[in-house]
Amino acid sequence: MTSADTPYDKGSEVRGIFEKIAGYYDRMNFVMTLGRHAQWCREVAARVAPAEGGQLVDLATGTGVIALEMARRYPDATVTGVDFSAEMLRRAKSKPGADAVCWRQADAMSLPFEDESFDGITQGYLLRNVADLDGVLREQFRVLKPGGRIAILETCPPSGLMKPVMRWGIRFVVPLLGQIVARDRKSYTYLESSTLAFASPEHVAGVLRGIGFRHVKWRKKFFGTNVILWATKPR
Ligand SMILES: C[S@@+](CC[C@H](N)C(=O)[O-])C[C@H]1O[C@@H](n2cnc3c(N)ncnc32)[C@H](O)[C@@H]1O
Repeated sequence: MTSADTPYDKGSEVRGIFEKIAGYYDRMNFVMTLGRHAQWCREVAARVAPAEGGQLVDLATGTGVIALEMARRYPDATVTGVDFSAEMLRRAKSKPGADAVCWRQADAMSLPFEDESFDGITQGYLLRNVADLDGVLREQFRVLKPGGRIAILETCPPSGLMKPVMRWGIRFVVPLLGQIVARDRKSYTYLESSTLAFASPEHVAGVLRGIGFRHVKWRKKFFGTNVILWATKPR
């Protein structure tokens, strides 16, 4: 492995991109998903379904959409939103309801939490941004309590009959929208390439099972371009 392949090198490159796009991230997400992103975040929040109260964390929280939804949905729980981008967190903290969430700047590869701290863990679009998929999920297994749930929103490489059409759409439309909406084709070319190169839900599910998660399930969204996976840490 060269130094360029280490998770931390990928991390600093990815962090730079997200620092840069924070100001128009929500707008671009709305356009690219035709407004569906908020609905998927609600489903992710619902999938962790903790017992009353408890400790919940949203990793790669970005502008905080999932964390804020959990704080709204589970008012008796303590919700923490974690991201390594200061600019993304600044946007999250300025949103209505942000006072109900504890915001922490940290790297999901090395979480500043004790073992078995959380009853539920969520994340939107974290996995394809890290070089070590197994490592980032193991770290989540470590901080999750036995019986706790994990819920993941991710992009999904196209498959099946629609694959050529969807590949074409992602390859050309995403950078074009980046150019038109955000005047930043380069950052959204990264999004396009990381989506097409990312693992299938079957592969992610296999990694989750290999780590020890059980009851692994998933549901594809938006012509198979996005996926929600969820799983439980055994008691
Ligand atoms: C595409 S945004 C997703 C934001 C939010 N979860 C959502 O669904 O809208 C990805 C976020 O992951 C964060 N991120 C990527 N790698 C990370 C890491 N290793 N540790 C912490 N945050 C990370 C980025 O800073 C960015 O805010």
